[in-house]
Amino acid sequence: MSTVVRATGILTVSDLRIDAGDVPLVADVSFGIGAGERVGLIGESGSGKSLTAMSLLGLLPEGVRASGSIRLDGVPHDVLGAGERELAKVRGKLVSMVFQEPMTALNPVMRVGDQVAEVMLLHRTQPTRGRAAAAAVDLLTRVRLPEPKATARAFPHQLSGGQRQRVMLAIALANDPALLICDEPTTALDVTVQAQMLELIVELTAERGSALLFITHDLPVVASVCERVVVMYGGRVVETGDVYDTFTAPRHPYTDGLIAASDLTAVDDRGRLRTIPGVVPGGGEFPDGCVFRNRCPRATSACEEMPGWTGSPARGFACWHPVGGGR
Ligand SMILES: Nc1ncnc2c1ncn2[C@@H]1O[C@H](COP(=O)(O)OP(=O)(O)OP(=O)(O)O)[C@@H](O)[C@H]1O
Ligand SMILES: [Mg+2]
Repeated sequence: MSTVVRATGILTVSDLRIDAGDVPLVADVSFGIGAGERVGLIGESGSGKSLTAMSLLGLLPEGVRASGSIRLDGVPHDVLGAGERELAKVRGKLVSMVFQEPMTALNPVMRVGDQVAEVMLLHRTQPTRGRAAAAAVDLLTRVRLPEPKATARAFPHQLSGGQRQRVMLAIALANDPALLICDEPTTALDVTVQAQMLELIVELTAERGSALLFITHDLPVVASVCERVVVMYGGRVVETGDVYDTFTAPRHPYTDGLIAASDLTAVDDRGRLRTIPGVVPGGGEFPDGCVFRNRCPRATSACEEMPGWTGSPARGFACWHPVGGGR
């Protein structure tokens, strides 16, 4: 079943499926990203956001297999069928990624300026080591690191978490990628540093015309950073739309629950904050039919069958009993 496919754009994911052995982790995922567009990917822990993001770079963990199609504008082959040589040209050049914990992504024994310079030399964005080193200092300045020349000579452990995250962003933007993926880039940072980082991501991607796929649990962050949102649950896309429409008039009960749970001013009739009842089942143990039906306040026996996609690629949902649609 095909859900959402944007015909034009820099990225088109169609019917992505990811399995660990015979356990399905992600299924029927289709979405697209237009040039320069900022898209949020949201959903509770375990909904398949990171696996989906990793598959876009052809970087899946051992024992995990993806099928379907991932097309990047300007790349002749499907990412899922591409060889390591072709993927190496894509990673860090056309598509790059900022992870939640930069310490695991940075090389601990290499000066950060050299790490920024290295990706430019690798993709031949800068012709010589000297030019790359100068461009690295420029980039460290652009991500507003203090004393960029001195910082370039530092090792990752000499920097704070927020500073390391800025170095990661500099590395990710070094080759002006068509798409920057940020997977929970700010959850480990305190709120002030988080706000500065978000501002930088928006400013620097806009300046370069890079599109952004921003993964987070934090709905207010999506509202401030993104133009469009893709909502995942149980390894499936359950709703998609422009951020304003989706957050003010959600159609899928899951999106509705996420919004209610993130609204700190909303309390239930017993004066407690509302949360979505139940927990995300682990290990791919989602029910047959609609994956959300065992937690859904609107579920009926109709939901034992998988709902199809209603609406358009730009604005749609997969639900038999959408919010605001009667029963
Ligand atoms: N290597 C793996 N082998 C088997 N199952 C895996 C593997 N990696 C992830 N999973 C499972 O796939 C599901 C989706 O994982 P994923 O990391 O994509 O979730 P997520 O939406 O990014 O969650 P979080 O918000 O916690 O980062 C989870 O149930 C997870 O346990
Ligand atoms: Mg994740």
